[in-house]
Amino acid sequence: MTANQSSSTPGTANQTLNAWPLLTSENFKDVITCMSSGELSGSGLAVINAFERRAENWFGGGHVVSTSSGTDALTVALLALGIRPHDVVLVPSYTWGATAMAPLLIGATPRFVDIDRNSYNIDPEALTKAMAPDVKAVIAVHIHGMSCDMDPIMDIARSRGVPVIEDCAQAHGALYKNRQVGLLSDMGCFSMQKSKHFSAGDGGFLVTRDPVLAQQARNICNFGLPTPKQNYRFEEGQRDGYAVYRECEQIGGMYRLNPLSAALVKDQLEHLQPRIESLQAAMAPLLATAAQIPFLQITQPAPHQTHVWHKIRVGIGYEAVDHYGMPMADLRQGLRNSLAKSGIASTLWTAPILPLQKVFRPYAGTFDWTKSAGHLAIENSFIVFDEKYPLIAQEPATMASLVSKLRQVWTDHFSALA
Ligand SMILES: Cc1ncc(COP(=O)(O)O)c(C=O)c1O
Repeated sequence: MTANQSSSTPGTANQTLNAWPLLTSENFKDVITCMSSGELSGSGLAVINAFERRAENWFGGGHVVSTSSGTDALTVALLALGIRPHDVVLVPSYTWGATAMAPLLIGATPRFVDIDRNSYNIDPEALTKAMAPDVKAVIAVHIHGMSCDMDPIMDIARSRGVPVIEDCAQAHGALYKNRQVGLLSDMGCFSMQKSKHFSAGDGGFLVTRDPVLAQQARNICNFGLPTPKQNYRFEEGQRDGYAVYRECEQIGGMYRLNPLSAALVKDQLEHLQPRIESLQAAMAPLLATAAQIPFLQITQPAPHQTHVWHKIRVGIGYEAVDHYGMPMADLRQGLRNSLAKSGIASTLWTAPILPLQKVFRPYAGTFDWTKSAGHLAIENSFIVFDEKYPLIAQEPATMASLVSKLRQVWTDHFSALA
């Protein structure tokens, strides 16, 4: 059975039963076991603990705390690092809104930093300029699956004593200098929403090397109650003549991962590496010949970085505007139409850049963001393939032929325009 087919009855072998997320009969069994256990809510549950310890093995270190979503992982990380209302948090100008929404949700202030037009990641030079005395944290996003240039980012932040959070929502398994993203900063935050390389439907987790931060995060996820990893009971006590029981000790909320989601995802980590490798193999011919494809811009990872291709963003070089005497918006729409006619879906994913989005405009400052590198890089680019695209990675031959078709349609489109 291929990943595109599905069956309604769970089999006995570790059979693929669902198109996307990739679910096997093992996953169904895990969910049923969780349901029969009756442990459908709470913290320190066996299934949550199993997922978190497995994820720690996968990272080869660190402490993992699961959360209800990637957005909540970011919110919890900010709270654990002591970010409070009105503190300034630097975020890249292009990312999913959740990155800037997390500071806003706790009353902090997002401040935007331009991105690099080739990698679409936060620009370390722009970050240096933005590092004002009121900055209390930085969130670096490994956008679309390629790691940021973390060394300069960490150097800039460390030299000012500012903590860094990595938003790894799109970058499970990406490496920087042979090190896993998530463990390159103070805290790494991941999403397990349905489009991600492994998925609980919805869910998230954070990872940190710091056991104190991990404990803080665990408490924050559970209403600010002191929360050990597993199997604990609160004792009734007395203080100053009154009863004390399940006392909330710090700020927190209900940010825990649902146990059914943990059951669904806990065996999926082992599928991640082969999935990434098949995507990288399919992308290699396109990257190797990118310079010969008319006006194609595509992110080329440096030798010390890997790209896990959560999203494939392609851009049209601005030279095409002069060459054809056409506005970029028309060039882009024309190309997308040609791709669509050949069965290649495309999406803008999210636009415009965050400082130009309605909710974030009050935080955009006085800079004219329409002149920023990020705005130009997003205005000439788009994402190819739709949300189900990680599914295609299950089938390396299909993936490779789609990438080659993309190359062909792109080349033909610009030849016909000439
Ligand atoms: C870069 C980025 N950050 C954060 C998130 C938020 O994750 P979630 O949807 O699990 O809340 C996403 C979600 O897609 C994302 O792409």
